[in-house]
Amino acid sequence: MRKKTRRTIFLLFVTSLLIVAISAACTTLFNQLGISHALDRTPDSEQVSNNSPEESKTSEPTPTPDEKEENQTEPSVSEEGKKGGQNNQNSGNPSNNPAGKPAPNSGASQPKEEPPSKELIEKYTQELVNYRGLPYFNDEYSDRYVLYKIKKPDYPFEKVITYVNIGLDKGFYKHVNVISNITDLTVLVNKFHKLPDNFKPPLVQLDPSLCVEGRGPQYMHPDAAQAFIKMHEDAKLLGLNITAYGTYRSIETQNAIWNRAVNSGRTIEDVDSLNARGGHSEHHTGLAIDVIKNNYSVENTPEFKWYRENAHKYGFIIRYPKDKESITGYRYEPWHLRYVGDIAEDVYSSGLTYEEYYITVLEPQSKN
Ligand code: DAL
Ligand code: ZN
Repeated sequence: MRKKTRRTIFLLFVTSLLIVAISAACTTLFNQLGISHALDRTPDSEQVSNNSPEESKTSEPTPTPDEKEENQTEPSVSEEGKKGGQNNQNSGNPSNNPAGKPAPNSGASQPKEEPPSKELIEKYTQELVNYRGLPYFNDEYSDRYVLYKIKKPDYPFEKVITYVNIGLDKGFYKHVNVISNITDLTVLVNKFHKLPDNFKPPLVQLDPSLCVEGRGPQYMHPDAAQAFIKMHEDAKLLGLNITAYGTYRSIETQNAIWNRAVNSGRTIEDVDSLNARGGHSEHHTGLAIDVIKNNYSVENTPEFKWYRENAHKYGFIIRYPKDKESITGYRYEPWHLRYVGDIAEDVYSSGLTYEEYYITVLEPQSKN
């Protein structure tokens, strides 16, 4: 009997060892094949991540936006991240990289560029004179225009000038300016323009009937909220249900989202193509709204088909259009609407990204 018990224990021991060994082997294999990351990495990890701090509170009494932020349980920003960039005004350094990892294209391994030839510099400097009358021509950037034209000889000068004014010759997060017109409904927030660290917009809470069920309270800038309510109601008359999935997010929450995405094993380049770094998200302004329904395939919904043609009538634009990542810095986000007010119609009919529109139309107007 004792012998039988010993044999059973021995068999159990051997079986457990086998199970542990097989599961370890599977994990290694999955990691090698990148399967675990592929599973984590939905195209819209912005919103997946965005859920956690706020959603977990849905059964509790409605907190104010500030209370929500205090209650959030996301990982805090690393010390390196804090040092890395909140005050990188025109620093020329990668801005605000909370994970403290080297950003893509950030230096060391870059091949050395040939210095531009004197002849080309002279040729383009002479040509540039013909464009000084453009309303968005900036004398201070003349050298950058010439150097960028040498890099992109196929671009017409108008495009070169626009792109340099946007900052694209420097690269994303390489030349960051702290925004001063923070209360403008038309404010440009992107990888070159960040909001001040203490920025807090005016906010109102959306009625739960306007929000995706289970998302918890959502807050927007009062003007954007009013426009959204109108759009929601008009769409409702047509049998469509346009609801808010994600609206205001604080700089701290955005930092945590970005940090967590990077720490999940994704590359900085990949995360940057979907998630803004803290201070650089339009969601901080309360003017942005993600109108996801059940999943991110919003393009297949009748709601999308309607708001694609009509959102501008209510002051909203689809901020990150298809195939414009090289300008906006983000992949196509058909769900992300940005309230810009009356100019939305004009932005829509221009066919330009908001970056291009801002630089070529709004900025010159504001200087007059
Ligand atoms: N997904 C947009 C760009 C954001 O994170 O603000
Ligand atoms: Zn968004």
